[in-house]
Amino acid sequence: MKIEEIKSGGLPEHVAVIMDGNGRWAKQRGLSRSHGHKEGLNSAKRIVAAAASLGIKYITLYTFSTENWKRTQDEVGYLMTLIKGHLRSEFQFYKDNGIKIEHIGDLTGLPKDVQNEILNAKKDTEHFSGTTCVLAINYGSRDEIVRGIRKITENSIKPEEITEEFISKSLDIKDLPDVDLMIRTGGEQRLSNFLLWQCAYAEFIFTDTLWPDYTESEFLENITEFQKRTRRFGAVLDQK
Ligand code: IPE
Ligand code: IPE
Ligand code: MG
Repeated sequence: MKIEEIKSGGLPEHVAVIMDGNGRWAKQRGLSRSHGHKEGLNSAKRIVAAAASLGIKYITLYTFSTENWKRTQDEVGYLMTLIKGHLRSEFQFYKDNGIKIEHIGDLTGLPKDVQNEILNAKKDTEHFSGTTCVLAINYGSRDEIVRGIRKITENSIKPEEITEEFISKSLDIKDLPDVDLMIRTGGEQRLSNFLLWQCAYAEFIFTDTLWPDYTESEFLENITEFQKRTRRFGAVLDQK
C-alpha cells in the first residue's frame, strides 16, 4: 500500500512502541546483547522517519524502563552510552525529518551526562513542527503517576478539583494525547509498565518480529490494520 493511500485512511494521532527483542535478535546470531541494541537503534530511526513521512503527530518509544536497571551494569552502561551518543550526534536526522524530541520518565534518576543530552536535544529540536518523538527513558507508568500525584499535592487542592483531565495534565507531558495504537514487537503480550493511563482505549498490535527486524513495511501494515479496527469507546454504533 502506498503512503498516500494510508494517509487518506485516517491516521492514529499517537502511536506508542514497545521496542522489544534486541537481546534475542543478537542471541540468534551469536552476537552480544549490545550488538542487538545497536541494531535496534537503526530500527528506531527507520520507524521514526516512517512516522514522520506519514505525518503521525506523536510517536512514543519505550527506550529504557524503570525496571531495566535490574540488568547487568555492562548492559545498562552500554544503553546509556548509546542513548547519549545518538542524541549528541543525530541532530541532522531530526532536522531533516522535522522531528521534535520530547522526554517522559524520571530525568533526575539518569546519569547527569544523559540528562544533559536529553535537555539539549529537546531544546535544539523544539522549533521543528513535524512529528513529536517522545523518548521514554527511565520511564515507568506507575512512577509517572506517583510523581504526578506528588506534584498535585504540592499545591493545596480541593478533592473535587481532581478530575481525569487534571491527572492527565499532571503527567510528564501535560498535553500528550491518549495512545491510539500501541505496537509491541518481540512476541510478548504485556505492557511492562508503559503508558498505563494513556492506553485506556488504545488498540493493541503484538508482533513476533524482533525489534531489529521490524521494517517500515511492517509498520505501514500495522497502521493499515489499525485503520480496520472499529473503535467504540463503550458506545453502541449505528443505533437506530
Ligand atoms: C528491548 O530489547 C530493549 C530494551 C529493553 C532496552 P530487550 O533487551 O528486552 O531484548 P530481549 O527481550 O532480551 O530479546
Ligand atoms: C520493555 O521491555 C522495556 C523496553 C522495551 C524499554 P522489557 O524486555 O524490559 O520487558 P519485560 O521484562 O519483557 O516485561
Ligand atoms: Mg525484552
